[in-house]
Amino acid sequence: MRSVCVIGLGYVGLPLALLCAEKGYIVYGSELDLRKIEQMQVHHPEIILNQPKGFQADVVIIAVPTPVDERKLPDLTAVKQACASIAEYLDHSGRLIILESTVNPFVSRKVILPLFEEKGFVEGKDFFLTHCPERIDPGNVQWNVSNIPRVVGALQSEGLEKVTAFYRSILSSDVKPLSSIEAAEMVKIYENSLRAVNIAFANEMAIVMQNMRLDAKEVIHGVKTKPFGLDLCFPSCGVGGHCIPVDPFYLIDESLKRGFDPSFLRTAMKVNGYMPGYTVSLLTHALNDVGKSVRGSTIGVLGVAYKKNVGDVRESPALDVIKKIRSLGGVLKIYDPYVSHYSNASKEEVLSSDAVLLLTDHKEFLDYDYSQVPVLIDGKNVLEKHRTHGVYKGIGR
Ligand SMILES: NC(=O)c1ccc[n+]([C@@H]2O[C@H](COP(=O)([O-])OP(=O)(O)OC[C@H]3O[C@@H](n4cnc5c(N)ncnc54)[C@H](O)[C@@H]3O)[C@@H](O)[C@H]2O)c1
Repeated sequence: MRSVCVIGLGYVGLPLALLCAEKGYIVYGSELDLRKIEQMQVHHPEIILNQPKGFQADVVIIAVPTPVDERKLPDLTAVKQACASIAEYLDHSGRLIILESTVNPFVSRKVILPLFEEKGFVEGKDFFLTHCPERIDPGNVQWNVSNIPRVVGALQSEGLEKVTAFYRSILSSDVKPLSSIEAAEMVKIYENSLRAVNIAFANEMAIVMQNMRLDAKEVIHGVKTKPFGLDLCFPSCGVGGHCIPVDPFYLIDESLKRGFDPSFLRTAMKVNGYMPGYTVSLLTHALNDVGKSVRGSTIGVLGVAYKKNVGDVRESPALDVIKKIRSLGGVLKIYDPYVSHYSNASKEEVLSSDAVLLLTDHKEFLDYDYSQVPVLIDGKNVLEKHRTHGVYKGIGR
């Protein structure tokens, strides 16, 4: 791969094009904005601008805007236009096409791929469609286009190898291949949605704190001194313990008394509160898949404590899951080596049940042999899917 074409030379495309030139690629650029074109002709003569043969480069990267329209719906006009330009010059040479613009899962497969296929080209043979969501943070001096770690996804393994090799040839950072193009699309949307949620939370708390005559900045700096527990969270069957399912309700109560409804925090508590029910719905669906129902089936439960390697059951989501299964007529076999008064079965009895739910990630449970378990619900996402020959379901996987 010797030549690269970047379509859209904005905040994302221009630094990328310059990096490719620095790394020795022949770089073409495609840009519609006349002002930008004039500036680039002066400042970046290394980029060959708006030449049709640019679309015939070995690697063609799409970095055009993906805004929302006035109804806040995705507007893929620029992406489709860029693809139309690529399709016009597509041949059977095995060109690597990379989408860097942010899109929803399935846009590459369901919107972009057909634009090339309808011209008679075959993905995986004539061309390779891949995705590498951009993470550039304009103005950030520490993290730039060459050292931000990236994820890549493709429609099949050869495309994945090509796109991984390309980014490894220009970046000093880690390039992580994901199992599907949709996973790569989702990474970017997840990151930015998480940030939006965190920002919204800070904003809502600012109003709560202002009503209490507290300084939000001082409080958040105080929070930052905690060296654990503030990082990226993974999903699970619910939240337990004496703090997280409880303390936010204190704050909700106080804020309501002061005239402000912290609706975002209330929603967060509602979402966490319905995870035990969601876990039971995974169980019922998985049992249906093997021709059984909860009623009359033996349901093994591993773990009642709210947290690994402790015997504390306060507010444990496992209690809620157990209650729901009992109300559906399931025959419960419960084992928790840390909570003997809730246990009514041995490890062996639990593992020979029609379905097993792992609700606490006690260290003992990680090494059990689950291979013969017909239905395994991993409420803590700590077991690999292949640990059972039966049906595996985790939370969100
Ligand atoms: N700006 C960021 O910080 C950032 C970070 C990560 C990801 N992204 C994503 O990257 C994508 C690009 O964002 P951006 O901020 O660089 O946008 P931008 O508006 O700065 O640049 C896009 C450029 O594409 C050009 N363009 C539009 N349609 C074109 C076409 N058909 N052919 C050629 N050029 C065309 C525009 O004239 C513009 O100069 C978006 O999907 C965005 O969500 C942006």
